[in-house]
Amino acid sequence: MKESKKLQNLIQLDKQYLFQNYGTRLPVCFTHGKGCILFDQDGKRYIDFFAGIAVNSLGYNHPVLNKVLHSQVNKILHSSNWYFNKEQIEAAMLLSKTAFPGKTLFTNSGTEASEAAIKLARKFGLSQSQKKYHIISFTNSFHGRTFGAMSATAQEKIHSGFGPIVPGFIYVPFNDTAAFKKTVKKYKGKICAVITELIQGEGGIKIADSSFIKEIDTVTKENNILFIIDEVQTGIARTGKMFAFQHYNITPDVITMAKGLGGGVPIGAIHTKDFLVDYFPKGTHGTTFGGNHLATAAAKAVLETLSKETALNNIRKTGELIIKELSLMKSKYPKLIVDVRGIGLHIGVELSIPGQPLVLEALQKGLVINCTAEKVIRIMPPLTISTKLVKEGLLVLDSIFAGATV
Ligand SMILES: Cc1ncc(COP(=O)(O)O)c(C=O)c1O
Repeated sequence: MKESKKLQNLIQLDKQYLFQNYGTRLPVCFTHGKGCILFDQDGKRYIDFFAGIAVNSLGYNHPVLNKVLHSQVNKILHSSNWYFNKEQIEAAMLLSKTAFPGKTLFTNSGTEASEAAIKLARKFGLSQSQKKYHIISFTNSFHGRTFGAMSATAQEKIHSGFGPIVPGFIYVPFNDTAAFKKTVKKYKGKICAVITELIQGEGGIKIADSSFIKEIDTVTKENNILFIIDEVQTGIARTGKMFAFQHYNITPDVITMAKGLGGGVPIGAIHTKDFLVDYFPKGTHGTTFGGNHLATAAAKAVLETLSKETALNNIRKTGELIIKELSLMKSKYPKLIVDVRGIGLHIGVELSIPGQPLVLEALQKGLVINCTAEKVIRIMPPLTISTKLVKEGLLVLDSIFAGATV
């Protein structure tokens, strides 16, 4: 990809002044967007099939979110959790309405939501027995990068080089009901919580089996264990329901969320059943920024917009269209495409070859996609994307698949 002078300058300054922990960035600097279209430093247009890792749930310059943000900027950005906060209360009310009746604690990111859930689970378990502090998580999961969240993440490569991780996590193969039941039996009375994603996002869009989740639900209830669902990537309408757990006909004790919640404004949260409020009394947990006026005003606007039945229907319909078209491409390119899977607008195309070169090629052709777990092209556009734009993006994708050498 030939880099303009402007981009070359940014590449050099990035190296000079920033940590390089994200590796070599893709050769583009987005400067603005409109709807589901992005523009770069040289004014080039891109269709967005990635939404900044499922964050820009309403796309760019959404009139409702923009209006709310502008109005909030003119009032107050931050006070503190020492004081009452109307926006925070209203956003929490919407979570009680759209998830389940309960209590919310706001954070600033997904990993902080994981930390809060882990700490809450420990408090819950240890209030019953000194031994009840273990948490089951599943292979190939991803829960964040802070110490607790990374320890919950059952992937050696995430722990590597950081010394001892937080003790008490037990890793069980994902979707293996027998192994899960065996582990609960082995650690009887010592497990305070189970944490899982319902679609492993960073792990390659791997969907949890219905029977597996039902069994976890039953076993956790029978053994007084908390069931925590990590909805950081799947939550806020991404799967065509407000939360992915709603596809499974269960109600977990705790959900974590972040990414799409603020539509681009950093915010996360845990939302729990009412009884769990007692395990975080004064002084046990908190954050300075968590749930500030600006972030919760954004969350409120996003939740109100996406919980409308028309919005959810559109997400489901658009997701079905993408999966149908990708399945046709799978028949067209059987050596290249191994599998197409997903729910709503959380979609993966598993390839037989590494996906990153295709991501670069897509970028050149004006389409933003992502590759996760080496070979899975991840498609998660803004939730407001139109059928017309989806079709345009899919044509680009088809041309890239057609040219790929297997
Ligand atoms: C399922 C899941 N949980 C937690 C996190 C961590 O969120 P954050 O990057 O906001 O800390 C992520 C991020 O990708 C995620 O996908």
